[in-house]
This record gives sequence, structure tokens and C-alpha cells, in this order.
Amino acid sequence: MADKQAAHVESTATEVPAAIGLATRPVAPDHPSQPAPTGDTERPASRPSLADIIAEQERIFIERQPESARLAADARQALAGGVTSSWQISRPQPVWLSHGSGSKLYDVDGNDYVDMHGGYGVSLAGHGHPAIVAAVQNQVTRGTHFAQPTRDALTVARELTSRFGLPQWRFANSGTEATMDAVHLMRAITGRDLVIKVEGWVDRVLREYPGQVAGMILEPIMMNAGIILPDPGYLAGLKDLLHAHDALLAFDEVKTGLTAGPGGATRLTGVTPDIICLAKAIGGGISVAAIGGSHQVMQHVANGDYEMVGTFNGNPMAMAATRAMLQEVATPEAYQRIDALRERAVEGSRALAVPAQRRRLPAAVGQVRAVADIGAARRERYRQI
Ligand SMILES: Cc1ncc(COP(=O)(O)O)c(C=O)c1O
Repeated sequence: MADKQAAHVESTATEVPAAIGLATRPVAPDHPSQPAPTGDTERPASRPSLADIIAEQERIFIERQPESARLAADARQALAGGVTSSWQISRPQPVWLSHGSGSKLYDVDGNDYVDMHGGYGVSLAGHGHPAIVAAVQNQVTRGTHFAQPTRDALTVARELTSRFGLPQWRFANSGTEATMDAVHLMRAITGRDLVIKVEGWVDRVLREYPGQVAGMILEPIMMNAGIILPDPGYLAGLKDLLHAHDALLAFDEVKTGLTAGPGGATRLTGVTPDIICLAKAIGGGISVAAIGGSHQVMQHVANGDYEMVGTFNGNPMAMAATRAMLQEVATPEAYQRIDALRERAVEGSRALAVPAQRRRLPAAVGQVRAVADIGAARRERYRQI
């Protein structure tokens, strides 16, 4: 799977592979044909410029998708920016999809694609996985919403405890909600306002704002700037440091959740934080999120210090899909297959990186369990941010 910056969908057309995927870098919707940066100033006069190559590939891309082009034009009237989420604004036009099956996606023009986008990290199960389909089909006939708990919620919470190590859980609908809950919860528990959310200078912030920091939230393995693993001991040191200042540690495992392994980055690194936020892949494609906490943390939810509420929290459809995802899809056998596929992806990415590296361009291949990517992100540079 690739993250939103590096998302790319491979064309299956034999004659011309697509150069641009489902969600390339967002561009202003009013300027869909902006000229691309050239980037190759030392090019011999006989070779086409990067801008020419991109323009040609965009032409081929649009030509192959007349129905997408028509829908995109219509959508500019009815949908803000012509899309349903601003990340979908893409160049030269969003691809309008018809359906997905397994690892493939099909657009409204009948083109098929290998799904390397993965719905921003959701589609670990692939499209139409029989276990997810059965769970959702079964639940849809029994009722889609009650705003009361169902048995599946208990099964899911226990399964998450066994994978991630935290004893108590609540549910929400998106990664945004889960991480917002984590921040609100840390503030409610400590009675402090400040939350650290960047790497670097943590010690200094804690010393400069004594008694004011509620906690810190971070991706334990960064996936939004290339795949960047923490230095050995970094997360454990962070936890000790925050606890020494009576502040809490929250892991944003929205992306890493099931993709960094069956127990996410938490199990992989062996550091259990006070709070874990999960979303994306855990619902097998259905919108769901989970917030886990220690007994000490979750007692503040139980006693109402922090009211963690939401109409759709623990929705039965979402719980049924999540139960199926955890018990029937993200199994030890599945991770064996994932490992083999990732190794192939890494091998291919390394081969792709070689020409760029020969030109001294910073092409780096990142990997962790179900995710591999190739990008320009460099660990040293990220550390300076
Ligand atoms: C690390 C991380 N946290 C939180 C979110 C927000 O999740 P959602 O889009 O489900 O609200 C994202 C979304 O990409 C993410 O990558």
C-alpha cells in the first residue's frame, strides 16, 4: 500500500502504462492542467522534458477515461472541488470508480487497475473479501444501527486487547475522531491544556512548560512522510520522560494499526503507550475507529470525567466487519502472505530507486510488514523539521 502522497495505480493496459494514479498530489481544482515543474535542467536537447512526458501521460490518462471526465465536469457543479474529500482532488482528473474486487479496481469507463492506493491504508483485506461481505450481509439484515452495544463489540475489544495489550476500548468512526478523543482524554485526565504532537525538543517543551503538558500524540512508525521507523529505545525513552512529568503517551496507530503487524507498532516495538488510536484497516473497509487505554486512563471515561460519545460509536455493522477483519482476515497465515508480497514490492522498489540514486536523487525505500514505499523522504531531513 502507498500513502496519500505516493499513491499510484498501475495500469493494466499493455501499450501505455499510466503515469499517474488515483490520488497524486492534490492540485487546485480550477487549474487541472497546470504545467508540471521540469526538474531536469541538464537534459540534452534531444530528450523530452519531464513536463512533456507528464503532459503526454496525462493526455493518455484522460483519453482512456471519458466517463470519468464527464462525471468530473458535472461534479464541479454539485460537489465542492468536484470531489467528496479534498484529498481526492487530483491531476489530471479524479478517477471515478465503479467497483473493486480483490486487489483490483474498476473505473466507470471499464478500465481496471491494480490497487496500490489501498484507500489511504484501509484496504488491507482487499475489495469484497468473502469474510467481510458475509459479516456485513448478515448484519445488514438484522439491523444497521441501534446505538446500543452488540456482542461483536465485546469480541472486538477482547481481540484488540490481545493484540495491542491495552485492557479497555471504546469505538468511533474515523481516525480523526479517535485522535481527537485521545487528545481530549489526555486533557481531561491531567487537567492540562498542552499536547505535544511533533518529534524533537520534547524534553525542552516539558521543562519550559512545567505542569502544563497533558501528553504527547505521535505515529510510533511514521507513514505520512515515507515509512520512518523510530530509533531503538526512542519510544520507551519518550514514555519514561512523559511519565516523569505526569504526562501521557498516545500512539496514533490509525495507519500502522494492522499494517505494521497484527498488533501494530505497539507490539512491534514492545512499547505499550497509555492510549492507542486505531482506524482505517481495522474495519475491513467499513468506517470504524477504536480508542484503547490503560485501566488508569479508561476509568476517566467510565466515570464521565471525559464523555466519549457518538451516535454511531460501536455501530453494529462496523463491529461485525471489524470482528470479521480481526478473526478471519488479519490472521497469522495472512501475515505470512503479506510478508512475501512486501518482499517482492521492496525488491521492485529498490530496482526503481537505482536510476534515481545514480543521478544522486534522494530515492529511499521504506518498509514495514504490509507497507512498502519509495520516496524522497530522508530520515535525517525529517529530524530537522
Ligand atoms: C496517522 C493518521 N492519523 C489520523 C488520520 C485521520 O484519519 P481519518 O482520515 O480516518 O479521519 C490519518 C489519515 O490519513 C492518518 O494518516
